[in-house]
Amino acid sequence: MIRRFVIGTPLDTEAVLHKPEVDQGVLPYFTIEGTTLGMKLAKEDVVYGLGENVRGINKRGWIYESNCTDQPHHHENTRSLYGAHNFFIVKGQEHCFGLFVDTPGRVIFDIGYNRVDDMKVTLENEDYELYLLEEDTPEAIVHAFRELIGQSYVPPKWAFGFGQSRWSYFTAEEVREVARGYRENQIPLDMIYLDIDYMERYKDFTIDREAFPDFEELVAEMKAQGIHLIPIIDGGVKVEEGYDVYEEGVKHHYFCKDVDGDDFTVGVWPGKCHFPDMLNEEAGRWFGRKYKVLMDMGIEGFWNDMNEPAIFYSEKRLKKVFEKVGDFKDINLDLKNFNAFQDLVGNVSNNPEDYKSFYHNYKGQKIRHDKVHNLFGYYMTRSAQEAFEELEPEKRVLLFSRSSYIGMHRYGGIWMGDNKSWWSHLLMNLKMLPSLNMCGFMYTGADVGGFLEDTTEDLLLRWMALGIFMPLFRDHSALNTRRQEAYVVEDKAAVRGIISLRYRLLPYIYSEFMKATLKNTMYARPLGFVWPEDPEAVETEDQLMIGESIMIAPVYEQNKSGRTVYLPEEMKLLRFDGAVLAEEQVLAAGRHYIKVGMNEVVIFVRKGHILPLAQPAQCVAEMDWQDLTLVHFAEEGTSYELYDDDGISRRVSLEGSLRTLTV
Ligand code: GLC
Repeated sequence: MIRRFVIGTPLDTEAVLHKPEVDQGVLPYFTIEGTTLGMKLAKEDVVYGLGENVRGINKRGWIYESNCTDQPHHHENTRSLYGAHNFFIVKGQEHCFGLFVDTPGRVIFDIGYNRVDDMKVTLENEDYELYLLEEDTPEAIVHAFRELIGQSYVPPKWAFGFGQSRWSYFTAEEVREVARGYRENQIPLDMIYLDIDYMERYKDFTIDREAFPDFEELVAEMKAQGIHLIPIIDGGVKVEEGYDVYEEGVKHHYFCKDVDGDDFTVGVWPGKCHFPDMLNEEAGRWFGRKYKVLMDMGIEGFWNDMNEPAIFYSEKRLKKVFEKVGDFKDINLDLKNFNAFQDLVGNVSNNPEDYKSFYHNYKGQKIRHDKVHNLFGYYMTRSAQEAFEELEPEKRVLLFSRSSYIGMHRYGGIWMGDNKSWWSHLLMNLKMLPSLNMCGFMYTGADVGGFLEDTTEDLLLRWMALGIFMPLFRDHSALNTRRQEAYVVEDKAAVRGIISLRYRLLPYIYSEFMKATLKNTMYARPLGFVWPEDPEAVETEDQLMIGESIMIAPVYEQNKSGRTVYLPEEMKLLRFDGAVLAEEQVLAAGRHYIKVGMNEVVIFVRKGHILPLAQPAQCVAEMDWQDLTLVHFAEEGTSYELYDDDGISRRVSLEGSLRTLTV
């Protein structure tokens, strides 16, 4: 059952498309005081959800914030990351419900942080909507919620291949080298991502013609090798006379304004920028149509970045800093003065005051940015996808974003933002996936190998062994970090094998992804969703069910030759030496220590289930979806429903796309 409560006169985020009638009754479970909802948590209550966040699958014991933030230095104490996903589920003995707090402003979810048994949800905006969902199980709640918010975005099939990215492929020649690195070493690859380096002075929708003189040819040449080039688009538009995007934006008042009605100026990669008013329908439409510039050059996919939006500095704040910084020049920087100095110069980026100093024109209404902050990335991505629907009405275009809000899941995927080459971030990647699925984000994954900091060979290999199960499987690293393309790995056979296994698994991964997307269920589930009555399964947060047939238990610590795996029931272990199935063994329910070599991937098949495997290939286009091997832990006559389609048409449906595979 779904009940909708409306408090005040909230702005419609359009997270929910088909809204149920407003419930005039009283919200159960919670007390409301001002803009705080309070609830007592029972000892055994588990809290799921909140999408992109740090910590566990069970969110208890920490305080989270929905306030889209450019936070590359996150760790377990971080409260807010790049997205705002205000949906959670409380599963206890007495109750099982979900709550979606639909508000575009900041929200704080204190889930037993200030007082261990208290949950407090505090909203910054006074007007908001609540959706309360009551069902018997968390899975049923997720299903009801996903029906409410609408079908998740479906990328092209080739976007399930492996992608290589790095901030610092400075020239067309370097891009060619990456392609060669993969093809010559026979490591599969479907995408190379172009970071800001392809642009002319970091201007959206431009090409640096000195570094990429034959951009169109490069795109075509790569495509002939089965590789799609995926350029980045940033949320800020460079201020530069003669730059058409800037000039059109100024002329038509498409940029966000400051308090005086002037175009709001911030610093991002290009230096001075304006933010397109993504919430303004006309401006959004205009910005979305700009992607055509690159589509006309043969581009079929994009990633939207810096759209929290990230602010290195605002022009006004910077001016103030320069005026005041001289005061510190000749004085003794004692504790007090040094702190004041640091406050002045250390808080120029993403300063909360700056988010209160610019305005949107939303349906003719002037709205201060902080009131709608969490919608910026959502509306940027929506504008782009709506333009793609017009420009490419038949074909899917790859699109994912860094910042997001629930609702954006219909228009694009997300990557999990800037992470680090840390083992703890590998584990966080695993835990985030099911929480994102709960909130509608299906096409997602983290920067494999870690974005910032230097990776190591073992971390990269172990991360790959997890990454092959992520719908979005991309190796991405930052400027000036150690190289981490698969072909620089010493043990080439190991990395080739693991990535090749991804391709062998693709019919299953795509099938499970598509069925979950079309049926509004989850692709990756916590064990507690599948075995809710098994307390050990509920507390196991370092293993996941991927689709209906398999469980994964990756190694996520350094210098470990294996790990303990919990089997809630009898399962069949499959040991892959790279892409080759090397061992099948039935294991009893309970705990087992499983050795996993650096070149290996271990998968557990559920009883009564089948895992179809394809032959390895160098890219998705070369794959044969007919020639499948059925590995199984099932009796003769058991079947698996394989979803398959042409991989590119926008129209997708279960009807006509299911094939029964029987053992
Ligand atoms: C941001 C993105 C990252 C990208 C970098 C340069 O940090 O999150 O993926 O590489 O900007 O564009």
